Amino acid sequence: MNTEWQRSTIRDIPLYYNPKVSGLRMDTSTNPLGANPAVKEALRECLEMDLNQYPSPYSDDLRRELAKLYSLHEDNFVVGNGSDEVLDVLFKSFMEPGERVVMPYPGYSLHSYFVKVNCGSPCHVDLTEDFQLDVGAIDRAGGKIVLLANPNNPTSNTFRHQDIVSVIEGRKDRIVVVDEAYGEFAGKSFIPQVESYDNVIVTRTFSKAYALAGMRIGYGVSNRPLAEVMQRVKIPYSLNRVSERVAIRALRDQSFVRESVGAVHQGRKQLEDGLRDLGFHVFPSEANFILFRGAMDHRLLVKRLAEKGVMIRDFGEKRRLENCVRTTIGTREMNSLLLDKLKEVLGECQ
Ligand SMILES: Cc1ncc(COP(=O)(O)O)c(C=O)c1O
Repeated sequence: MNTEWQRSTIRDIPLYYNPKVSGLRMDTSTNPLGANPAVKEALRECLEMDLNQYPSPYSDDLRRELAKLYSLHEDNFVVGNGSDEVLDVLFKSFMEPGERVVMPYPGYSLHSYFVKVNCGSPCHVDLTEDFQLDVGAIDRAGGKIVLLANPNNPTSNTFRHQDIVSVIEGRKDRIVVVDEAYGEFAGKSFIPQVESYDNVIVTRTFSKAYALAGMRIGYGVSNRPLAEVMQRVKIPYSLNRVSERVAIRALRDQSFVRESVGAVHQGRKQLEDGLRDLGFHVFPSEANFILFRGAMDHRLLVKRLAEKGVMIRDFGEKRRLENCVRTTIGTREMNSLLLDKLKEVLGECQ
C-alpha cells in the first residue's frame, strides 16, 4: 500500500495494547471486586426489553440519573461508549484541524491518539521531577485545549489542586479537560465546579470504580453550552440500551462504589509495603493502580510474571518511565499472589 494514502496525522499510530490474555489480569486497572452486582439484575430486566427499538439517542434516562447523583441538570451531561468516546467527541467538537492540544507527559496514551485521529497536533509538556504539572510550561505551550488526567495514568498520582485551578484560571480562552477516570479512588473531582467555570469539561467512566469496563459506558460533564455542542456532535445511539440500563442500576448502588474504593485503599497499603520489601521503588498512588520501578529488567519481569499466571503492564521502554511497570491494586488474595510471584521471579533471576 502507498503509505501516503494514510492521513498524515495518523501515520505513526500503533495498534493498541492487545496482549495474549491468560491468568490473573492486573494490567488493565479494572475493579478488584469483579463485575458490578447490578449487572445480573439489570440484564434480567433487559430480557423484557424490545431490542428491536433504538436506544434514546442521547441516553436521556442515564443522564437524568447522573444529574440526580451530582445535583446538576441532565443537560450538563454527555454520555458515551466509554469515556474514550467522550474524549473523541470533545476533539471533534472543539479542535480545528492542525490545532494544538496540550497534555502532560507521561500521560494516558489514548489522549494523543484521539487528537491525531481528529487531525490535531498533540503537544506534550513534561511533568516535573515528582510527576506534578509544570503550570508555566503548559501556559507557554499555547493551544486551545489542555487535557490532563487526574489521577494521572500511568504515574498514578494526583496533581496539586491549586495547579489544576491555575491552568483553568490562567487563560480563559482555552478549554481544560480533566479526565477523572480514576476520580472515585482519589475522592477528588472538578464536577462540582463545572457550572462555575466557562472552560472546564470533566470526563468519567463506569469502567473502574463501577466495575463495568465490558459494558463501555462513560460521560462528560460541563456547563450546558459546552455539553450542548458535544451532544450535537456525538454519534446518536452510541450507548446501547443494555449498557444504559446496567449503568442506571449501578449508579443507584453507591455502596458498591464505596466498597470498591475501600478495597483499593486497603490493597494499596499492602502492595506498597510488599513491593518496597522486595526492593522496588514505588511511586505514590491515589488511583487503583501502582507504578513501580526497578529491581530487575522490566521486560523479563513482565514476561516471567505472565508465565507464572499474573499479567502486569510494562511501561519500561518509555522516556521518564525507564524500567517502570504498573499493576492494578487487587484484593488481599490477588495482591499476595502477585507479591509471591514477584518474589519467585526475583529469586530465579538473581
Ligand atoms: C486516564 C484514562 N482515561 C480514560 C480511560 C478510558 O476509559 P473508558 O473505559 O471509559 O473508555 C482510561 C482507561 O484505562 C484511562 O486510563
